[in-house]
Amino acid sequence: MLEQSLLMVKPHAFTAKKTGMIISMLENNDFQIVGIKSIKLTPELARRFYFVHEGKEFFERLINYMSTGTVAAICVEKENCVADLRKFIGATDPAKAAEGTIRKVVGVTVEQNGVHASDSVENAKKEIRFFFSDIELYSYRYLQY
Ligand code: RTP
Ligand code: MG
Repeated sequence: MLEQSLLMVKPHAFTAKKTGMIISMLENNDFQIVGIKSIKLTPELARRFYFVHEGKEFFERLINYMSTGTVAAICVEKENCVADLRKFIGATDPAKAAEGTIRKVVGVTVEQNGVHASDSVENAKKEIRFFFSDIELYSYRYLQY
């Protein structure tokens, strides 16, 4: 089924100028970009985005890290997008990420693992809505040039 998902370039990867390469990796693997922006998350916004992890040992570190710099939010579309994107980003720990995955290429540590991707169709919808309004999302898939 044609689906959309949300990929976020995390602060250190954005600062290290990896965003362009990540976009190329997505486009070269049939993920069509339907929305894209950069934003500096406040701790409050990071908290809202990662609320499912509230109470976990790493939560405060994660919130602090995610609000240290610019992130890029990218809404992508393809068949089976949510599962395919999770597979394409690789394991949470970059040391365990498979060859060819985004985290294998840009990940440094479990915290600085380069990118986030939605983990279910339902969460993808919420996360896309978190970053984008309707006019910021457009799929050119059916345009004929
Ligand atoms: P994400 O949400 O960022 O796509 O990562 P994920 O699904 O692969 O992993 P998740 O369990 O959702 O964890 C969210 C982020 O929290 C940081 N984390 N640190 N033990 C730790 O120190 C630890 N565990 C997770 C990671 O940056 C992870 O991406
Ligand atoms: Mg997650």
